[in-house]
Amino acid sequence: MDISEFLQQELNNRKSKGLLRRLYPAIANKKGKIFTGKKWLYDFASNDYLGLAEQGLHINPTASGAKASRLLSGNRSSFQNAEKALAQRKKKQACLFFSSGYSANVSIIPAMLKEKDAAFLDKACHASIIDGVRLSNAKMLRFRHNDAGHLESIIRKNRHKFKNAMIITESLFSMDGDFAPLSKIKKIAREKDCWLYVDDAHSTGIWEINTKGIDILVGTFGKAFGLWGAYVCGSKKLIDYLTNFARGFVFSTALPPFFYDEIKYRIEYIKDHPQLITKLKENIDCFTKQLGGKHSSQIIPIILGETEQAVKLSRFLNRKGFFVPAIRPPTVPQKTARLRISITTHHNRIELEKLARLIRDKANG
Ligand SMILES: Cc1ncc(COP(=O)(O)O)c(C=O)c1O
Repeated sequence: MDISEFLQQELNNRKSKGLLRRLYPAIANKKGKIFTGKKWLYDFASNDYLGLAEQGLHINPTASGAKASRLLSGNRSSFQNAEKALAQRKKKQACLFFSSGYSANVSIIPAMLKEKDAAFLDKACHASIIDGVRLSNAKMLRFRHNDAGHLESIIRKNRHKFKNAMIITESLFSMDGDFAPLSKIKKIAREKDCWLYVDDAHSTGIWEINTKGIDILVGTFGKAFGLWGAYVCGSKKLIDYLTNFARGFVFSTALPPFFYDEIKYRIEYIKDHPQLITKLKENIDCFTKQLGGKHSSQIIPIILGETEQAVKLSRFLNRKGFFVPAIRPPTVPQKTARLRISITTHHNRIELEKLARLIRDKANG
């Protein structure tokens, strides 16, 4: 088939299902608002939970690029200082940075699992985790979202068929906004001879989880840290191993040197400004109370089912001044199209209450 014909066919196919993704203009972002070319909207789509993305860099860049992978261009003390600071914060022996969370997951999982191994992963795990397992050639066995009982029964039936096995979950789920039952999962991992891999992307910097019993802890700096890049924390031996075998580390240019200083600065900044988390929690409470319920994280899904319903509500809110894009399959499972409300410290009571009221009124007909 001609390449152009192939591309058009695939795009048309997506479009016919109402699932075509398009880049929309974001001409400016400012303090929780986004300008899309027509008007300023309150931004409820951003993962800048603590409002740090607009802070600007605090460290004067002395070099613009890392020049090569760290294995080639050398390991500066600033790299090691930042990784050490994060390892300490996460109560792990060591840490290694990657250029993105996606790259971390698709590099670390295949470094850990091989053909004769198994990955037991939560059904709601992020695409980068799924891609990592696919790349590893290990058997992928998925358990019902946050259902430790189901995980245990799948492991009981299958663990003996594989050499090594790893349970993979997120700590705070990106599209559902709920926390994994980590203590139960840790117990299963311990008892059933499985390694435990936790992606802490949406929790990092806000909800500090108990990292004891987690063998591989991954997270990103693109959410609450307001930057980009990612990390893995674990034992010293794990980091030595990944320095050798994680292809996204070995074969990719390192993050720019100034980035490491900036990360170290932000680790301290978040630690020294607990009021940011207090404010975020107040905003979550304010929004969820108005919506008539309770929710324990900054990610609040409004599940509508069909794609058209989610798109319709998103457009309605847009007309009312709120930016809340619809999240559609394949990002979420079929028939669970939703609005994903992302609360940040930038929001204020008036806009939170107004958004909640608009959603509640629509839900009530
Ligand atoms: C759970 C999870 N892991 C990894 C990623 C990818 O991180 P990054 O945006 O740094 O590539 C995301 C992105 O949203 C995520 O939600």
